[in-house]
Amino acid sequence: MSRSSLSKRITPDFIQELKSNASAFNSFIHDNNNGGSIIYLLEKLGRLEGLETKDSLISLLKSNKDKVRALAIKNLAKMSDISLLVVFFKYANEDSSTDVRRESVAAIGRLHNEDAVPYLIKCLSDEDPKIVLQAIRGLLPFSGKNKIDKSLLSIKDHPNEIVREVINNKFNKKEEVNHNKATKSINYERLRNKVVLGKVEDILKYIPNESIDLTFTSPPYYNARDYSIYSSYEEYLKCLAKIFKGVLRATKEGRFFIINTSPIIVPRMSRAHSSKRYPIPYDIHPLLVKMGWEFIDDIVWVKPEACVKNRNAGFFQHRKPLGYKPNAITEMLMVYRKKTDKLLDWNMKQYDSRTINKSKIRGDYETTNVWKISPTFNKTHSAVFPEEICNRVINFYSYAGDLIFDPFGGSGTLGRTASNLNRNFLLAEKEVKYFEYMKKTWYEKSSFFKNSNEVEFLKIKDFITSNRGK
Ligand SMILES: C[S@@+](CC[C@H](N)C(=O)[O-])C[C@H]1O[C@@H](n2cnc3c(N)ncnc32)[C@H](O)[C@@H]1O
Repeated sequence: MSRSSLSKRITPDFIQELKSNASAFNSFIHDNNNGGSIIYLLEKLGRLEGLETKDSLISLLKSNKDKVRALAIKNLAKMSDISLLVVFFKYANEDSSTDVRRESVAAIGRLHNEDAVPYLIKCLSDEDPKIVLQAIRGLLPFSGKNKIDKSLLSIKDHPNEIVREVINNKFNKKEEVNHNKATKSINYERLRNKVVLGKVEDILKYIPNESIDLTFTSPPYYNARDYSIYSSYEEYLKCLAKIFKGVLRATKEGRFFIINTSPIIVPRMSRAHSSKRYPIPYDIHPLLVKMGWEFIDDIVWVKPEACVKNRNAGFFQHRKPLGYKPNAITEMLMVYRKKTDKLLDWNMKQYDSRTINKSKIRGDYETTNVWKISPTFNKTHSAVFPEEICNRVINFYSYAGDLIFDPFGGSGTLGRTASNLNRNFLLAEKEVKYFEYMKKTWYEKSSFFKNSNEVEFLKIKDFITSNRGK
């Protein structure tokens, strides 16, 4: 039976009647052994103050349907009845379904009763980390008591990373005063709307800790053109990792870093050699996570096939397996957040209602992680961002007035788009020709933009001087 037919049959009034009449409840269960109706009823039971339904719910624990048993436990937990402790513990230990076991441990926790503590402590040694986490959750309200803290600390080196993180957050960090209250972060006027000529690794030394709200960047490619810069792929990854560590330090707590890369190909030396493909997003990812960026999302940028290099011509002719080379129409936008135990809500609370209102995304927007956007070609710079990509990233991951950073500024697309969207920007670019190109074309390109901020172009030494004493 569909849910809409079920809702017509099992109405709120009917549920109310069942809740207050044990024999009617029992008959309903007896007459509806197909599962669907019982699951619907169990999901809609709502508050259970009286104990009329207790025995019927216990009888449902014999059901062969995992979902029915899990929902029966969930409803029994609403009764706050300590006599159910042994029932919950039995199912926490013995049930074959993880969901039922997890629901049972949650039910023990929901009793909020000191008698339940030894049972929760036993669950800390369960093999399933989900059960352990649920037990920790039940124990945390009692922490501060010696025995409980000792038990929680005994799993501080647990093999599961989430368990370790929860325990570490609880005991190894100093308790913060006003943990959830937004603190005012510092906005550095002197960093705003600047394009700096120099190596970003040098520029970063003059960017204070926790001063950047969002970084979006497309790093230089490791390919034939860049051989002179990087002696090896390992060296290339090392250089990027060093820069992104600097970006992490300069990023405000809990804020985002989005990196656009894709596997690249280094063409073969001659027909006697093969070309080599380097999986940059996959190799940079573990380095980012290790240094303290938390992985949030992977967005796939899809381009029309006609816009990318055709690698398929050979295979199209010979059609021999193993020689297949798909046309690479995607790039990755990997989304990371500076690691924190604070929720996103904490970051959002840093803004006043006017800024929030100004920054809200209205109307249609991309709801998936597949972004179909045509690339942009530029005569001076061979790898520029399409403006639409910058628009989306800035709108989705920053608020009006924020400082947006691109360590590899290139032709300046991110800076100009940020300006248009009422954000501030800071760009670094090491090549004079691109710096000069930005300088020459900034306002002419910005004529399409409604809201251009006054931009300052500085050599690194002037940027350093301008920072002194401020
Ligand atoms: C892929 S491009 C970025 C293009 C940019 N997203 C745009 O829309 O124009 C990378 C840029 O980083 C610059 N670059 C490479 N290494 C750098 C470094 N160490 N410091 C600053 N800029 C660097 C390159 O000159 C190049 O312009």
